Amino acid sequence: KADAIQRVDSHTVLFGVIGDPIRHSKSPIMMNRAFRETGVNGVYTAFHITADKLGDFIAGVRAMGIRGVNVTIPHKQDVMQYLDHIDESAAAIGAVNTIVNNDGVLTGYNTDGIGYVRSLKEEAEPQLAGKHIVVLGAGGAARGIVYALTKEAPATIIIANRTEQRAVELAASMNGETSVTGVGNDQLQQVCAKADIIINTTSTGMFPNVDESPVDASWLRHGAVASDIIYNPMKTKFLADAERAGCRIHGGLGMFIYQGAYAFEYWTGQPAPAAAMRETVLEALR
Ligand code: ATR
Repeated sequence: KADAIQRVDSHTVLFGVIGDPIRHSKSPIMMNRAFRETGVNGVYTAFHITADKLGDFIAGVRAMGIRGVNVTIPHKQDVMQYLDHIDESAAAIGAVNTIVNNDGVLTGYNTDGIGYVRSLKEEAEPQLAGKHIVVLGAGGAARGIVYALTKEAPATIIIANRTEQRAVELAASMNGETSVTGVGNDQLQQVCAKADIIINTTSTGMFPNVDESPVDASWLRHGAVASDIIYNPMKTKFLADAERAGCRIHGGLGMFIYQGAYAFEYWTGQPAPAAAMRETVLEALR
């Protein structure tokens, strides 16, 4: 079924991803597999859009009736000004990665954080309520993930960051029921020792810096979940060390799959074929 022929005709609905750079993106192969798998008459391509062309691109989406767009670096914030509506969670996160075009009305969503949480629950830890969670890093990725995690009623979320001030500010911006605290990396050992789940959202350990890790694995509790949003490499040094230290490990590929799965669901109203999407991306990464 992976190589079933995709029909393109005068009814085919258009989708795509924009970014700069974009040619490395695995979204087109993942989403076209999802369309083939479900029989949706759609086609999804990659558009290399530079910052100066972003407004023109969105005008083009309206003119051509492109149904859905994924947005990646560096446009997740800047694209918001061109849309008609921003979903509540995308507004709280301050970034859009998915646009839905409903008869010319463009709404921006953010599926990165909820995609991460769905992956964590399905692949590593179904029960997040009551858990003590440490998030390493306080950048854009951390913001979406922390926001989505607060909806799961964990006991505490502690954000630890090299630049303490960013962690403190990010924590202060989350105004829900959950206790969210920001600390500097000087407290990393102490907070990791108490954590049920430790999530790396920094770029530490990403290709080509594969010998770096954001923590010393001896600080982690035996049986804790170590989770990384990096998927190149699939098993970072952080995860490899954590596994040897007796942790359960969770890699970053699922976040990519499920951010796409949610986008597919918003666009088509049907469940995404997540297993098939994962299979295709795994083949492409091999
Ligand atoms: P993203 O959107 O991927 O989150 P970002 O907003 O640039 O990117 O945030 C990168 C995060 O990784 C930050 O928390 C950054 O720490 P600082 O706020 O101190 O800059 C963290 N980070 C990046 N490289 C790091 C390193 N070598 N060691 C520790 N933290 C690092």
